[in-house]
Amino acid sequence: MSDSFFAVVARQRACRSFSEQPVDDETIARILTAATFAPSAENKQPWEFVVVRDADTRAAIGDLSRRAWEARGRAFSETRLTPAMLADVDRGATGGVAEAPVNVVVCADVQRGLEATIPSSIFPATQNLLLAATALGLGSALTTITTGFRAEMQTILGLPDHVWPIALVPLGHPARPLGPPRRAPFSNRTHRDRYNHPW
Ligand SMILES: Cc1cc2nc3c(=O)[nH]c(=O)nc-3n(C[C@H](O)[C@H](O)[C@H](O)COP(=O)(O)O)c2cc1C
Repeated sequence: MSDSFFAVVARQRACRSFSEQPVDDETIARILTAATFAPSAENKQPWEFVVVRDADTRAAIGDLSRRAWEARGRAFSETRLTPAMLADVDRGATGGVAEAPVNVVVCADVQRGLEATIPSSIFPATQNLLLAATALGLGSALTTITTGFRAEMQTILGLPDHVWPIALVPLGHPARPLGPPRRAPFSNRTHRDRYNHPW
């Protein structure tokens, strides 16, 4: 695929339902290589990627996701999301995400990276990952519902205490076309020289 950067950016969006078509290691390697070209505070590159294909481990992640969603997420989101988005997130949290053939758990080594800059050093790499997946025609999503349950995810993946799960990104072929993302035009959120001076 030879999409321009701008076409890839404009196509990237959350996919929460996947076909069973597998994703090979070479593709994963390309995607994770792109992730590692992200900036990080002090160039400490604090990311650790756990690439989960194992069905039992994905089922354990799926179970954690469902419990997290049912315990806190759904009630919180019910009044905040549109019905269509709530239904999609619900589908993802109750099975769709974990059923992707690959689950990448993006983690942070808080000994290698500065704790204060952990999210800001991990999310750029995660965004690169999402864009690389999109460029290669794969579906993906940035999800955090499970990573709030750090200890449980650490147990599932055998992570040491100093390696924290930050995001769970499913990778696979979308079960159905995603359609275009909906975004407000940048000019609605941009100020010329001073706040509230329109672009
Ligand atoms: C910090 C963050 C956390 C998110 N957590 C979740 C999540 O737990 N579950 C989920 O389904 N989507 C999650 N998302 C994806 C957003 O819902 C999605 O990016 C947003 O609604 C835009 O939708 P689109 O990608 O379909 O355009 C998260 C996104 C961000 C940036």
